[in-house]
Amino acid sequence: MGKDVIIACDFSSASETFAFLDKFRDEERKPFVKIGMELYYAEGPSIVREIKARGHKIFLDLKLHDIPNTVKKSMAVLSSLDVDMTNLHAAGTIDMMKAALEGLTKADGTRPILIAVTQLTSTSEERMQNELLINASINETIVKYAENTKAAGLDGVVCSPLEAGMVKSACGSEFITVTPGVRFADGEVGDQVRVTTPAKAKEIGSDYIVVGRPITQAADPVAAYRRCVAEFVD
Ligand code: C5P
Repeated sequence: MGKDVIIACDFSSASETFAFLDKFRDEERKPFVKIGMELYYAEGPSIVREIKARGHKIFLDLKLHDIPNTVKKSMAVLSSLDVDMTNLHAAGTIDMMKAALEGLTKADGTRPILIAVTQLTSTSEERMQNELLINASINETIVKYAENTKAAGLDGVVCSPLEAGMVKSACGSEFITVTPGVRFADGEVGDQVRVTTPAKAKEIGSDYIVVGRPITQAADPVAAYRRCVAEFVD
């Protein structure tokens, strides 16, 4: 499977997003972009169509979590937008994930890559145990949710690069890991806690790295993107 760098386009308007993507107009390799809730809720489905029309692959990061029927129908809508990857919460259970897969699959049998969020990296083990009453360790929970994701027939999970090895050991090397929390060795860490470099993420076995501020806030975003590709893909 091809490794790729996904740029998190965490902007709140189409104009900011296009001003950023314009910098990549002459790039031979069109970046794979992640559209999250902020941009999607601000601009609606047209933002997906417009970015797609510029030749970018799209990871639509909306993290669905609802009853199986609602998720199935919503996934059918997202599939018709022709996104390349989308996601949901594994906490919705195997039934919900199976329904999502059905909704996402087009009449010709093709579908976008579907991955699951296990535990959000903002959830600490302490809060998971005390507030959610999940008594297992956070790592056991992540592995179990990844196994459920695989059992439902999905393609992989979003996880920290430092968890990718553990997920691959439990679910196999073909099971996709999409990993945010990536920083250059000489860069700012910001609010991310468990970070690793693109080169290290490659070594650990991530399939896709999601990189936001190290590219979007760089003085030269195209150079920063090329550096990620050189470390992670080439
Ligand atoms: O700017 P930065 O590189 O930290 O952006 C990382 C992106 O990945 C953001 O869009 C963030 O919401 C997302 N993400 C994350 N950690 C997760 C899941 C998603 O940082 N566990």
